[in-house]
Amino acid sequence: MVEFRLPMLPQPGELVWSVNINGTEVKLNIESNAILLDVLRDQAGSLGTKRGCDMGTCGCCSVLVDGEPRLSCLTLAADMNGREITTVEGLANGHQLLSQNNNPTNEEIKTAIEGNLCRCTGFQQIVDSIRAASDIIRENNDIEDSTSAKSDPHPGFMEGN
Ligand code: FES
Repeated sequence: MVEFRLPMLPQPGELVWSVNINGTEVKLNIESNAILLDVLRDQAGSLGTKRGCDMGTCGCCSVLVDGEPRLSCLTLAADMNGREITTVEGLANGHQLLSQNNNPTNEEIKTAIEGNLCRCTGFQQIVDSIRAASDIIRENNDIEDSTSAKSDPHPGFMEGN
């Protein structure tokens, strides 16, 4: 009987990976060829980052790296060393989602979510949810503005008095 053996493949090296995930400094030992999606899910515990197609077409694995969208399934984790990563968990407070435009039109919303393929709800509910979130953010901003006016440390002081 002939015995076949696979040649030994070189093992990837390890490196210390130091990033900020959702505002928390994280330091992990990772393999030098690890994919960002795997590190986020398997080592950093960010299970909100989903694996969909695993080939860069669905957008399920999207994260923000230094504020820019990135497909984590196509990103080497080692290249992200020292960067700031925001996962969907980091958007939970709702303030970062619409930070650039808190009153988008439906067309702007559709453009912003372009490239994300939703397999379960269709897109209208997502657009409606983003619209509702923008309404809440603007409403909260109005409340904060009126509250800060009431907390004026010099009430009653008027210019010219
Ligand atoms: S898992 Fe589909 S784009 Fe990354």
